Amino acid sequence: MQTIVAVDGRAKEIAPKKRAKYPVPARTGFRNGTRAKTRAGASKEAGERQDPGGCRPPTTVPRCHAVDRGRWRKRHGHAARSGRNTSAIRRTRSMYADAKTESQSIEFIGKRSSDYRNALSHYADAWRPDIACMKRFLQPAQGERILEVGAGNGYFSVAIADCLGPDGLLVASDPSTDQLAGIEAESRHGNIRVVPASADTLAIDFHGFDAIWSRGAIHHVTDKTAAFTRFAELARPGARLAVADVFSGTVLARYFDSFIARSCSTGHEVAFLSREFAESLCALTGWGEPVFHEVVTPWEFKKREDIGCFLQLLFSAKPGYSAEDCLEAADRHLSVSQTTSGWALMWPMTVMTSVRPAHG
Ligand SMILES: C[S@@+](CC[C@H](N)C(=O)[O-])C[C@H]1O[C@@H](n2cnc3c(N)ncnc32)[C@H](O)[C@@H]1O
Repeated sequence: MQTIVAVDGRAKEIAPKKRAKYPVPARTGFRNGTRAKTRAGASKEAGERQDPGGCRPPTTVPRCHAVDRGRWRKRHGHAARSGRNTSAIRRTRSMYADAKTESQSIEFIGKRSSDYRNALSHYADAWRPDIACMKRFLQPAQGERILEVGAGNGYFSVAIADCLGPDGLLVASDPSTDQLAGIEAESRHGNIRVVPASADTLAIDFHGFDAIWSRGAIHHVTDKTAAFTRFAELARPGARLAVADVFSGTVLARYFDSFIARSCSTGHEVAFLSREFAESLCALTGWGEPVFHEVVTPWEFKKREDIGCFLQLLFSAKPGYSAEDCLEAADRHLSVSQTTSGWALMWPMTVMTSVRPAHG
């Protein structure tokens, strides 16, 4: 069973035979292989942290999220929410200034970063279905404090911050200051703060996030045990974790390993999570048992050739790789389909959700 997120935000569970609108590649099964190794020494349980906001009854849920929020609770049972606490928000808003980037090598800088930014500004609507996907799994709500890990140039940050409203706060972290440049200024409510830091060394003096979101970044993190331990320390009991990423053994992992690793100007030396390692990671670092969702989002374009141009920029292709080469590889590994309004690249990602136990 896979999910396709439609542009209007409604997610549809689709069995392979019933995929009418957007054909999904059949090659999406998981294999057992993993490139990630379990690290010794992680604490079994993260220590309990005091939630500065305290637990309060559920806040108002925006209409568009109401159905999904119920679904989240059904799956995870105990995602209690905390209300906002203005002094805690003020404290969080001032802590980012001291954060340091400790990552040794930063891939997304210079041309790699400006190409990424150009891809998303030239084709601003291509990822609309991914925003719907984020809302479905993260369920950002008014007044919440959310941490984004590997925020890049803020495509999701701005959308999340919009949902949080003027009383909420989004802390957008990434080791690349090139990527983070300008994100704070883009927020409509003035509620985004950036922290230039790698996921495993997040220096944030605040331990009450209601939820954590990461998309396409965890496979770049070398020490995932340290990162997930840090996430647990920073999250309040009952907080939600939603990680959208490339998982090992998937069609997407094969596309990255066979084409992006060769064509990307910075290479793509990464460690994809396996489901098994992710389960161990959650157990070791204080997160509840994760749930995995296979989601296919249609990246939307007016013309077929736009897909190649977008990918050429997004992955900052080496000079030897044309837009046509990038399109051909995407068509071969993933799926390119004609739609009623243009063309779509079917992008198959794994979304892992978990909850930090209220009593852990
Ligand atoms: C493919 S981009 C995704 C950016 C953004 N989440 C998006 O979906 O557009 C991967 C991001 O992960 C960041 N990244 C690389 N290593 C990281 C690390 N150790 N910790 C956190 N983020 C990292 C990169 O700087 C880059 O911005």
